[in-house]
Amino acid sequence: MLIAFDPLAGMKQPLHPRADLATRPPTILVFDSGLGGLTVHRELAKARPDARFVYCADDAAFPYGGLSEDHLVARVLAVMERLIAIHRPDCVVIACNTASTLVLPHLRARFDLPFVGTVPAIKPACETSASRMVSVLATPGTVARDYTRALIAEFGGGCAVTLVGSPRLAALAETTMRGGEADMAAIAAEIAPCFVTDGERRTDTVALACTHYPLLVDVFRQLAPWPVQWLDPAPAIARRVTQILGPGTGADAPYATALLTGGMALASLSGVFGRFGLAETRVEPLPLH
Ligand code: DGL
Repeated sequence: MLIAFDPLAGMKQPLHPRADLATRPPTILVFDSGLGGLTVHRELAKARPDARFVYCADDAAFPYGGLSEDHLVARVLAVMERLIAIHRPDCVVIACNTASTLVLPHLRARFDLPFVGTVPAIKPACETSASRMVSVLATPGTVARDYTRALIAEFGGGCAVTLVGSPRLAALAETTMRGGEADMAAIAAEIAPCFVTDGERRTDTVALACTHYPLLVDVFRQLAPWPVQWLDPAPAIARRVTQILGPGTGADAPYATALLTGGMALASLSGVFGRFGLAETRVEPLPLH
């Protein structure tokens, strides 16, 4: 039986028993600071169309890339306590590199249910790079993490790895998704440091290590000074969730809802969520302290 921490009672309370997952669709909670997690959600929805999806954008605290590490840990734990108590998920997908590279051990210690994180795809990037020159495009928070450095030390395989912490791309992706015009000059400036040369060699692989960035990948392709492989980890995350929860029935689930902790620009966002199959958009206010 799964157990979750009950913030009110200060004790552990039972969740759905996992054993009955053979007879009912699982509830999958997908979590990000904003719209980036939709790039993970769309792969999860393809893999488990029968699942009940709850997508939460912690827009009250966006962008996570700008929060201190202590503040981010406290924030994600507080929001998660609330969401788990209300929605009783069978699996939580932290569709955010900035949070996953820091908060996963805290979440796993606090809640007894499966958490799947999103971390920079350094291993596949370094395994598939022919030039042995790889860039990791992430938020400033993710590039500063010890976890990211440990991934490079363990899986870099002798490749030259350039870490690029973009302060603006996540917000630029949000603006574009809400219908604003893509600011091509600003986007070009943010991705430029990914393109590195060394004599005859040059970068051939860029790991998209922020879930917002695949939303802009077509723009990146247009602006890239030369073609590279852009690595999006979302399909691998969906495979991991299917390993945990099983393959499912293939039937469409009746329930897919999006939650916002702030709810700014709700009207424009419900259209965006609708395009990703999240029929209902609600605000569950959780102001940032
Ligand atoms: N989508 C988040 C990530 O994968 C970050 C965006 C933010 O800075 O909030 O890192």
